[in-house]
Formats: sequence, structure tokens, C-alpha cells
Amino acid sequence: GDVAVLVPAAGAGVRLGPGMPKALRALAGEPLLRHAVRRVAAAASVRQIVVAAPPAQADAVRELLSPVAPVTVVAGGAHRQQSVAAALAAVPDDVGIVLVHDAARALTPPDLIESVAAAVRSGLPAVIPVLPVVDTVKEVGPGDVVLGTVDRSVLRSVQTPQGFRRDVLAAAHASGADPLTDDAGLVEKMGLPVTCVPGSDLAMKITRPLDLVLAEALLRLP
Ligand code: CTP
Ligand code: MG
Repeated sequence: GDVAVLVPAAGAGVRLGPGMPKALRALAGEPLLRHAVRRVAAAASVRQIVVAAPPAQADAVRELLSPVAPVTVVAGGAHRQQSVAAALAAVPDDVGIVLVHDAARALTPPDLIESVAAAVRSGLPAVIPVLPVVDTVKEVGPGDVVLGTVDRSVLRSVQTPQGFRRDVLAAAHASGADPLTDDAGLVEKMGLPVTCVPGSDLAMKITRPLDLVLAEALLRLP
């Protein structure tokens, strides 16, 4: 394999409700993070997996992942971007392709990981999996008054894994840009192209309680 996968897993999971950090919450009796890492490890291109864990749970995370795959565990930070930067620092210099993949996208198929890695390998600096936006989207102003309707056909919902040439991701994180909700956003700010590939419904992010119900149902599908 020629790919390192960084797995930010240090978030609290506030939107999921009170409880353990989200990556350690159970989905069908198993922590979300273990579901995610098992699928990452099943992708043939993957050489190294680096998990950014909640700092207080780093040892617990090492233990719960040891039966699944060899992983490097580092302490995550207060913001997702800091967690990704901490994980990136643990990647050896000879790894040319780095993917960043949310632990919360626990059911992401290994095939999607391979397709993002392949697109980077083909020469693209940055690659993101996307889906069409299904709802009508409106911009809203003061007093909840609609300012306008956005043309949905040019919009995409963005998933992970996001894939990068290693030097591109390193430069993006060194750029000191304000925290964003994804890594590709940093690359866009550098003026480099970010290319979309088809995402997957299974790469949904488990964010709210309803998503856990949906994920359990997806796991029961034949
Ligand atoms: N993440 C991280 N470090 C942080 C914040 C988030 O590693 N300081 C990770 C989460 O663990 C998750 C991914 O980034 O795998 C996507 O973030 P999100 O879905 O927002 O998770 P949380 O931040 O945990 O959830 P919430 O925003 O509801 O608190
Ligand atoms: Mg968050």
C-alpha cells in the first residue's frame, strides 16, 4: 500500500446527545470507531492508519482497535483541524498519498476509500467524494426571511475520505487558514483544484440520534 489514512476521532459528539465521545459510542454493540477502522483496513492501498483519539481515551482506543488492525494512536485537539494536524505529524516521509476520514462515517465502504486513493494516484492534488443535494436550499436573512433560492444543481454534499497528495495536505495545514469543517477547504484557499468523485450513501456521517437508527438499519441490510 502507498496510502496513509488519518482518522479524526477526537470529537465529543455534542449533537448525538450526552454520553461518551462519539467515536466510542456503540453501533450494533461495537464502538463507531471500530466499525470505521475495520473498513479502512480492508482497503488494499492502505499502508498506515493514524487515529486522533480523545486525549483522555487514547489508551482505551489503542486497546479497542488492536484486534482489528495495526494503528498509530495520537491525541486529538480541540478542533477537528488540530486533530488532523496531529495525525499528519505521525505519517512517515515516504508516504505519498494521505486520506482524511471521519470516524463518524463508520459504514464507509472500502471501495470508496480505494476510489479516492486511485484518483489521487492518477495525479490529482485533492479529491473529495460527493453526493447531489436532495433538498431545496435557501439563503435566509434577519427575521427568518428568505433572501433567495440557491441553484441546487451546482451544489454537492461532501463526505470523507478526502484524499490528497501528501505535500498538498501538509502545505494546506501549514497555511494557518482559519479552522474549516473539511480539509479540502484549506486546499481550495491555496488555489489548487479539488476534484469530486461519486460518494456513497453508506458514507453518511453519524451526527444526530436519527443517524444511529439509520446506521443500525443499514448494517442489517443483506
Ligand atoms: N473530530 C476530531 N477532533 C475534534 C472534533 C471532531 O477528531 N476536535 C472528529 C470527530 O471525532 C468526527 C469528525 O471529526 O469523527 C467529524 O466531526 P463531527 O461529526 O462534527 O463530530 P463531533 O465534533 O464529535 O460531533 P459534534 O460536532 O456534534 O460535537
Ligand atoms: Mg463537530
